Amino acid sequence: MGLKKDFLWGGATAANQVEGGYNQGGRGLANVDLLPYGKDREAVMAGELSMLTFDEEHYYPAQMGIDMYHHYKEDIALFAEMGFKVYRFSIAWTRIFPLGDEEKPNEEGLRFYEQLIDECLKYGIKPLVTICHFDCPIHLVKRYGGWKNRKMIDFYLNYAETLFERFKGKVVHWITFNEINMLLHAPFMAAGLVFEEGENREQVKYTAAHYELVASALATKRGKEIDDQNLIGCMLAAGENYPNTPNPEDVMAAKLIDRESFFFTDVQVRGYYPAYALKELEMKNIRLDITEEDKQLLKNHTVDYLAFSYYSSSVASADPQVNELREGNLFPTLKNPYLKASEWGWQIDPLGLRITMNTLYDRYQCPLFIVENGLGAIDVKTADDQIDDSYRIDYLNQHIKEMMAAVELDGIELLGFTAWGCIDLVSASTGEMKKRYGFIYVDAQNEGQGTFKRFKKKSFDWYRQVIASNGECLK
Ligand code: BG6
Repeated sequence: MGLKKDFLWGGATAANQVEGGYNQGGRGLANVDLLPYGKDREAVMAGELSMLTFDEEHYYPAQMGIDMYHHYKEDIALFAEMGFKVYRFSIAWTRIFPLGDEEKPNEEGLRFYEQLIDECLKYGIKPLVTICHFDCPIHLVKRYGGWKNRKMIDFYLNYAETLFERFKGKVVHWITFNEINMLLHAPFMAAGLVFEEGENREQVKYTAAHYELVASALATKRGKEIDDQNLIGCMLAAGENYPNTPNPEDVMAAKLIDRESFFFTDVQVRGYYPAYALKELEMKNIRLDITEEDKQLLKNHTVDYLAFSYYSSSVASADPQVNELREGNLFPTLKNPYLKASEWGWQIDPLGLRITMNTLYDRYQCPLFIVENGLGAIDVKTADDQIDDSYRIDYLNQHIKEMMAAVELDGIELLGFTAWGCIDLVSASTGEMKKRYGFIYVDAQNEGQGTFKRFKKKSFDWYRQVIASNGECLK
């Protein structure tokens, strides 16, 4: 019983939320750099408000991140002190291809990640690389319309191949796209989509989805050809949808919402568009540019594992009046009266993690990897630099216990667990620094003020013990 000996414990971050150094090392600009802090952020993320250059009125948190570009050695040393077996990070596409459509990569960008990877390996930490965590070179947005355009497949493939070649023998675990289903919910942030007036948005989003799915399959193919040791995964923003009542109408409503996410993983894990997806596209009059060659690629190059993020479950109703009470913009949900919520209204449901894992494993029968889970909260640093984040310990404690139950009692094959934002970072949805997830506190505030010094929180030592005991100390 228990987790397997080589269970991959660790933490996860994304380039645009930590690195900063946005104009250093030959790096180009990306969509994610242009997400402003403040009230316009949501409209920009959604592709409704087009902001393709910086302006004076806004603060852009990705420019500074937590300045990991200059602190990565110190940060990785702290991860090693916690005993990390794996560190999940993303590579900024624009450090490697500043414009995105060049043939030759930017050597300085490659060298930066090589050093970062070597630093991990020095401590025996396995790198888990997200090839694309929401970023898309802004030049590709302006010139080609981002993932609206089939040409993106070639640009992405060139980028992915460059990474596979360069980091061969050093990186084994890869994820092709972070939360691929996010493109339906935040199309500019996740796929560089800006909508023109009168454009059929559903048509655009599903077209982009298809191109990303083909790009993911091609990257899986090339990744394995370059090194057959590579393990290549897809990634989903997951979380079960519960029906609001036992009324079959509500049960069906919850199923339909789940399908919006399974649309992606059904293709990536099983290798073809499921019947419900084809029917839905047909009913919505959405025509996708799916070639015979695309179909073969999707079929022949499915992923090795399914990675996912889990923060919460959701509640769905078939009644439009009830649905008016839904909250949250990216994944709107009704309140679940049985659950408490975080300060940002995300409902806390540890058992929901086990339920979600069962749904995914029953559906796909392939290894799972929890690559994001954690609690975004306001932390207080005292005058003597103590940060008591017992609420975060509670949250993770409960979730990890349910994760272990899913392995030990349900027999699910799970590769690892990487806590999201293992070091405080910029929030993707709000752009805030005060929404903190880390075991390590970073002295930085919402609009870039602060010393950027790092401090261990109470959870730091707790997580160290969890890893050292392979989770047994929680029993
Ligand atoms: C996931 C993303 O959606 O959730 C991360 O992959 C993000 O990039 C995380 O940071 C938590 O969300 P937020 O909005 O609290 O940062």
